[in-house]
Amino acid sequence: MRSHFCGLIDESLIDRNVTLCGWVNTLRLQSHVAFVDLRDHEGIAQVVIERENAEAFAVAGELGYEYCIKVTGQVRKRLAANDKLKTGAVELIADKVEILNAARDLPFALHETPNEDMRMTYRHLDLRRPEMQQMMRTRTKLVRELRRYLDNAGFQDIETPILTKATPEGARDYLVPSRVHPGQFYALPQSPQLFKQLLMMAGFDRYYQIARCFRDEDLRADRQPEFTQLDLEFAFVEERDVQDFVEDLIRHVFREVRQVELDASFPRMTYEEAMRRFGSDKPDLRIPLELTDIADAVKHVEFKVFSGPANDPAGRVAALRVPGAADLSRKDIDGLTEYAGKYGAKGLAWLKVDDLAKGREGINSPVAKFLDDAALEQVLSLTGAASGDIVFFGAGAWKTVTDFMGALRIKLGRDRGMVENAWKPLWVTDFPMFEYDADEQRYVALHHPFTAPKVDDIADLRANAANSVSRGYDMVLNGNEIGGGSIRIHRPDMQSAVFDLLGISADEAEAKFGFLLKALRMGAPPHGGLAFGIDRIAALMAGTESIRDVIAFPKTTSAQDLMTNAPSPVSEPQLKELHVRVAAAEPKA
Ligand code: AMO
Ligand code: AMP
Repeated sequence: MRSHFCGLIDESLIDRNVTLCGWVNTLRLQSHVAFVDLRDHEGIAQVVIERENAEAFAVAGELGYEYCIKVTGQVRKRLAANDKLKTGAVELIADKVEILNAARDLPFALHETPNEDMRMTYRHLDLRRPEMQQMMRTRTKLVRELRRYLDNAGFQDIETPILTKATPEGARDYLVPSRVHPGQFYALPQSPQLFKQLLMMAGFDRYYQIARCFRDEDLRADRQPEFTQLDLEFAFVEERDVQDFVEDLIRHVFREVRQVELDASFPRMTYEEAMRRFGSDKPDLRIPLELTDIADAVKHVEFKVFSGPANDPAGRVAALRVPGAADLSRKDIDGLTEYAGKYGAKGLAWLKVDDLAKGREGINSPVAKFLDDAALEQVLSLTGAASGDIVFFGAGAWKTVTDFMGALRIKLGRDRGMVENAWKPLWVTDFPMFEYDADEQRYVALHHPFTAPKVDDIADLRANAANSVSRGYDMVLNGNEIGGGSIRIHRPDMQSAVFDLLGISADEAEAKFGFLLKALRMGAPPHGGLAFGIDRIAALMAGTESIRDVIAFPKTTSAQDLMTNAPSPVSEPQLKELHVRVAAAEPKA
């Protein structure tokens, strides 16, 4: 149908006849000539339709934006080259212009960024925008390089079921009713976790899969209800074997896709250190701000807001020094207090150092009066505060303070333009094995229930469950958790003990995971692995904040597909066939 791509014509084609196909990007109709910028996935070419060519000129008169057309003609050197276009040295003098399809009722112009609902409703049009084409290409390159690397390393690409049984990864399951087994349901996989472990038990040694995962959870810019993992598993490995391998893999894809050379060895940090210094288990190391614990300095003060948590083993008093930010206004600080409030802060004390040399006189703070000289001096020295700085304070329950001070650190880093333009990967390790769920009044697994504890001894684990550390690890890049994994439990007795500690009875364990427990009893090898969030890595590589930009047909934050209108009601006969009755009054149209 065509001889060349619009975006690839150049001076080597001068005087040659070519046929291009594409979309009318821009259109300028003059009395003697019409100019069309014709666009395809490679780029744009200028087409010139002269009035002398009466037939073609008549067609030009009918054109509109985004018409799909075919043009045959001769390539000519442009009188005034356009440096902004890759093809700007040449143009095409049209011989014949054919409309392949008209474009009517366009909901938005492609050179503008349409609003989110419009983009989702007319995704086919949104994706035509060169910006989106570019981002999707980045994703394609990423996936191609991941596969290339793993294929060369001898991994087997094995598919696992989509209609399956619940895999606990901490989210709700999407369920599919069975027609032939009334009242029974398949679950869509939250990850291929158990299947990949079973593949190791089956002797495959090294597996990967580009796997779609389904999780019914609260959505954000970096979370979709269905998303894609690069899922990996290795037999006969320990932490460093997995980590070193995938570090090389990530370095490879950044080099190939982005021409970025990441650190030769990623820094490592325990969960405890990450939470203490950065208030997050996925610290953004591009921001040069750190939390300082000041409990010891304020244990004795009268100010209960500080001394209360300072004396409570489950409390925390943390300070965040922001260099040169004493210029923040009352209004700014009120805004930050409100922001911290969203993360559970009951207040946000602060202290401005106008002039350090003047001692107490040089301090501007609503809480300084509650701190005696010794406390004030210690706080200043612990935080390293200098003239012109502001110090924020968070006090309260350990987790709450850590969360809101961590969020504040990110916000201030961004607002004050302190985010370094760099790639900062790291490993976070030594996660707690269990987390106490106050609502459910029981322990839940921080990674998933198949993650091995550091201790080998079951009695040790039971005796110290609340403080036990797992063999899990996350890879973090610029404040995003891009991958997570662990060494797995490969002994049936340990797996049963962990189920038990999680409040899963032996009967329930047998009913839900009997197949796993059986397989563990049949010579299961030690194994471990990790899964990367491909959407998140692609978004980082493409330089976008939202993973929606690197997913062709994503869902909205309320888990809808506005283009196809999914989810949608189904007919009564279909429900009946599936043995399902809808309890809600009337599903939303
Ligand atoms: P985890 O739950 O940490 O581990 O998931 C692995 C990675 O997948 C990405 N991710 C998501 N991306 C987009 N939308 C979501 N809703 C979403 N949820 C997770 C993240 C995350 O790091 N089976 C284990 C892996 C293992 O232990 O090997 C698992 O699924 O980038
Ligand atoms: P109050 O005694 O509640 O009036 O608070 C005095 C100061 O302490 C105000 O600047 C509050 O913003 C701050 N403050 C109150 N609660 C906390 C808290 N949990 N953490 C940090 N600062 C707080």
